[in-house]
Amino acid sequence: MEQAWIKVCDAAEVQPDAAFACEVEGRMIAVYQVDERYFATDNVCPHAYALLSDGWLEGSEIECPLHGARFDITTGAVLEGPAECALKTYPVRLEGNEVQCLV
Ligand code: FES
Repeated sequence: MEQAWIKVCDAAEVQPDAAFACEVEGRMIAVYQVDERYFATDNVCPHAYALLSDGWLEGSEIECPLHGARFDITTGAVLEGPAECALKTYPVRLEGNEVQCLV
């Protein structure tokens, strides 16, 4: 299926210090705001099953609430285990007050 920019939330819903959980096209996505830039990743941790939106965002790092894996939300890279697989990231753009993702 061809990718398309889709609204995931309003920009005002995304606080700088927390991940915002959305569901788009059947995918669970977490949206983040860091230094006034927006990022989006899968919300489900690739290690087991936990929602990263229940975890802790520090700068551009999200820590999983279940086993403490940490990921760079700008690249999806694993910064600390036990997760071994990178987090899927999505391109994000701001259109007016809408945060849109390419899903
Ligand atoms: S479920 Fe996220 S680190 Fe285990």
